[in-house]
Amino acid sequence: MPESITITDNRTGESVEVPIVDKGVDAKAWSTLLPGIWFNDPSFGSTAGAESDITELDGGAGILRYRGYPIEQVATSLSFLEVTYLLLFNKLPTKEEVDSFALEIAEQAPIHENFHKRILEGFRDDAHAMGVLISSIAALSTFFPESKDIDNPEIRRLQMVRLIAKMPTLAASAYRKNVGAPYVQPDPDLDYTGNFLTMMFCHPDGSYDIDPVLRDALDLLFVLHADHEQNCSTTTARAVGSAHADPYVTIASAASALYGPRHGGANEAVLRMLEEIGSYDQVDDFIASVKSGEGRLMGFGHRVYKSYDPRAVIVKETAHRVFEITGKNPLLDIALKLEEVALADSYFIDRNLYPNVDFYSGLIYQSMGFPVEMFTVLFAIGRTPGWLAHWDEMLQQNSRIARPRQIYTGPAERDLPTR
Ligand code: CMC
Repeated sequence: MPESITITDNRTGESVEVPIVDKGVDAKAWSTLLPGIWFNDPSFGSTAGAESDITELDGGAGILRYRGYPIEQVATSLSFLEVTYLLLFNKLPTKEEVDSFALEIAEQAPIHENFHKRILEGFRDDAHAMGVLISSIAALSTFFPESKDIDNPEIRRLQMVRLIAKMPTLAASAYRKNVGAPYVQPDPDLDYTGNFLTMMFCHPDGSYDIDPVLRDALDLLFVLHADHEQNCSTTTARAVGSAHADPYVTIASAASALYGPRHGGANEAVLRMLEEIGSYDQVDDFIASVKSGEGRLMGFGHRVYKSYDPRAVIVKETAHRVFEITGKNPLLDIALKLEEVALADSYFIDRNLYPNVDFYSGLIYQSMGFPVEMFTVLFAIGRTPGWLAHWDEMLQQNSRIARPRQIYTGPAERDLPTR
């Protein structure tokens, strides 16, 4: 059986044979036969926007692998920095390599004093942390103008290290601005996630006791969010990067896409939904309202997963470990009942709607003391290695600028009325 498809234009009888390579068909062959007739696929649901060797996702089978390693193994064995190294440099680091990478990260983690004094201070005190983070990442572009030299692999590497290193510092600063606490710079003697927790929650004298269980749980959540192939924000990073924009504005654009409630903003939306439902007894009414089209069950559904999101399984297990330390989040019972009712209901069964990564993560973040406005910020810290790995891969592939076609549906040419 030939690994190809034949397309015939029935208007002319002309045919073209298109080879199937790696489960894909080359759109160029189509456009040779049918110039000016475009695929009508606005949300790219049937279009492969990239060739990538970073993450493999099979949504039907519930499979997620980073560089071939199953997420279940990665989650139990690797730290966030090891996963970052794996995603960025396509190599599992040795102990020496990850130690030296951690040192590089620690060196790049502080942010310029002017950033606190002049940029952060310009925001309203109640500014949403995600808006502040996105602007902060973009502002870094002005601190590192050499980052525009995207053809130089060493310069690209340095910016990737800087972004991974500075995200927690920017995130903690956005939070401290909100709560009126003095800004803190990172402590190079602390590990990545312990340092972030300390910058977030330390007292004015800098003291903070890191709970190892909570730190490890947060590190694991970063690992679970680290990459997810061509999601909306990563596709944004690849598209913006394809215009040869510098990495800071590219990652700020990706973070902007993440902010939306259909994407990374869903973790905040889930918490607000659970609070609005308010009690266990209201769950059935809420599900009925979703089914009648009054809103969505946030934290459920996924474009690609048509079975249980493997990340959600691990997040749910992690929630129980965290609640042993923090006490049970009172919203957990509502979430568990929502899941139980939805998974037994034909509306959700017929549409393959299962909990996704955002369904339980917010409960953990809240129990750790993060305000809801920080939830998507935490997702952004976790996703930064993925965005950067795809940006770097796209540049190495020498890809053309992202520039889709459109199907024009407006008026035909017409003359302006005479006035
Ligand atoms: N609650 C109720 N109905 C839903 C939901 C939901 N969460 N998600 C999809 N549906 C229904 C939708 O109404 C449609 O029904 P019908 O065929 O009768 O019109 C059907 O399921 C297919 O939905 P869709 O909108 O075509 O699906 P999509 O692949 O375009 O959207 C999604 C995927 C994630 C945006 C969507 O499922 C959603 O809005 N979920 C809630 C938000 C959320 O949790 N987002 C986080 C995604 S995972 C983390 C990440 O990637 O950031």
